[in-house]
Amino acid sequence: MAKWHKVVAVDGFERSYKFASRRKEVAIFKLEDGVYAIDNICSHEFSQLSEGMVVKGDVYCPKHGSRFDIRSGAVKDFPATRGVKTFPVMIEDGYVWVKL
Ligand code: FES
Repeated sequence: MAKWHKVVAVDGFERSYKFASRRKEVAIFKLEDGVYAIDNICSHEFSQLSEGMVVKGDVYCPKHGSRFDIRSGAVKDFPATRGVKTFPVMIEDGYVWVKL
């Protein structure tokens, strides 16, 4: 059953942050309109999206350059053909919480 995890202070990271729990590895991104969480592992091969370049709400996979929409998890560029999962995020008392 999914439960909320206290991840990091909102001011504790610049643009992206990797969070790992026993069950999942999640990439947290801070955009102009809020904080979002998606699978950290690319849907193409093994690569960490939290290390990718962020441009206008999209993250580029650092390995082969597939582009993912951070808000929806949708894939926008090859070689990946599947999107990545998104996770609910809330901000409380200055901390990012993610539901996994
Ligand atoms: S591992 Fe991400 S595009 Fe290939």
